[in-house]
Amino acid sequence: MNNKSDVSQDKSFFGQPRGLSTLFFTEMWERFSYYGMRAILIYYMYYSVTKGGLGFDQGTAASIMSIYGSMVYLSSVLGGYLSDRVWGSRRTVFIGGVLIMFGHIALSLPAGKMALFVSILLIVLGTGLLKPNVSEMVGSLYAAGDTRRDSGFTIFVFGINLGSLVAPLLVGWLGMNYNFHLGFSLAAIGMFLGLIQYWIGGKKYLSKDSLYPTDPLEPGDMKKLSGRVIVGLVAFALVLVLMYLLHALNLNNFVVLLSIIALATPVVYFVIFLTSKKVTAQERKHVWAYLGLFIAAAIFWAIEEQGSSVLALFAANQTNNNFLGLHISPSWYQSLNPLFILIYTPIFAMLWNKWGKKQPSSPAKFATGMLFAGASYLIMVIPVVLFGTNSLVSPLWLVGSWAVVEIAELLISPIGLSVTTKLAPRAFQSQMMSMWFLADSAGQAVNAQIVKLYTPENEVAYFMGVAIVAIVAGLIMFALVKPIKNLMAGIK
Ligand code: PHE
Ligand code: ALA
Repeated sequence: MNNKSDVSQDKSFFGQPRGLSTLFFTEMWERFSYYGMRAILIYYMYYSVTKGGLGFDQGTAASIMSIYGSMVYLSSVLGGYLSDRVWGSRRTVFIGGVLIMFGHIALSLPAGKMALFVSILLIVLGTGLLKPNVSEMVGSLYAAGDTRRDSGFTIFVFGINLGSLVAPLLVGWLGMNYNFHLGFSLAAIGMFLGLIQYWIGGKKYLSKDSLYPTDPLEPGDMKKLSGRVIVGLVAFALVLVLMYLLHALNLNNFVVLLSIIALATPVVYFVIFLTSKKVTAQERKHVWAYLGLFIAAAIFWAIEEQGSSVLALFAANQTNNNFLGLHISPSWYQSLNPLFILIYTPIFAMLWNKWGKKQPSSPAKFATGMLFAGASYLIMVIPVVLFGTNSLVSPLWLVGSWAVVEIAELLISPIGLSVTTKLAPRAFQSQMMSMWFLADSAGQAVNAQIVKLYTPENEVAYFMGVAIVAIVAGLIMFALVKPIKNLMAGIK
């Protein structure tokens, strides 16, 4: 079963290769641990020490949530590199999972801020190693031209959202009602189960190719690489020293520095793609088209990802969580995002099927998505205007907002993933996969700066402002649909 052609014939998991089951459950548990942890993390950070928290102020907590999320996807660049050139995807994923598990274990200990920062570091590195490579392995289960590939990815995304749906409920219930550290322990256990399953299933069902790097480092490369790494680290250290000398080395400014790095990374990539001699003129047009889609996606992800910061604050501060006799834990709202994805996925599949060739182009779907993302924030303006910032409003406002933003997610996320691979220049195929992660990372890097502005005094202005940016950008995107389509030349 380890030989590639056998794997491609295999139909034992819902008509899909058995290896899909292994990858499905690996990613399901990884997302379980990640989104379970994220559902309670912001509360852990700002709850007072007497209530079991760390006592940060709410703005700082929201900003840390964002920069953390940004770094988690920025590190996919590292994960892609290590898999291609050093460890191969199979090992890279395993090592990543182990780091993630220890990251959650760190938070399960009552060790305060130190444990938080250690945990963030481990999970940033671990997720960078694991997530892009699990997705990449899903793609390589199918031979070129295997028509099951798209449905394989759909099943895989179902796994992502299943893990993300259940986790806030369970981890949230333990973490918010009993003890934060107990909640984080459950996240660690989830990753542990995922690893065992991956270890056993991987040996049986994943191809042997995944054990080897596709483009192993040559001794000569090694020198060049270590030179670059050293220059990078020294530059980073110098900036920190400079900040220290200027008495500017504090958490806030450190976050600013990380935001700049997260935004500069995709810029550097685009410059490389657009200037490289290995990229043909036709491919360069594709990269220009992708730049438009990338910016649109980053704006969308910025709003989507504020669900775990800004909307999480709204859920705790301004929502009446006694609803129909039920006591809602604020962390549970985090399940709404994956829940709506699971509900909408079959509807959208039907819609695209029905429209067939007449369906809108990718840029048109992106533009529409941005309008929906903006609309989801306009909805949040209404309860604040109607009832003010001091009263508790119905949970249905948040439900409505998520119901709308998830329409946007289905117009952007799956389409972006597939268009990324199609627009990739040949010479940079695997780096392009990371670009899709960088769109989310860039959105959250911006968030790390703007979520601090979200305070009760300027709540209306905040929701309005973000909504207007997204809607105006969506309208600009509509105007650009034609030129982008031309640049894409035939690619849908
Ligand atoms: N919710 C998405 C996921 O968990 C977030 C994401 C989007 C991550 C795009 C990476 C790239 O998969
Ligand atoms: N919405 C999150 C992601 O796209 C759960 O999968």
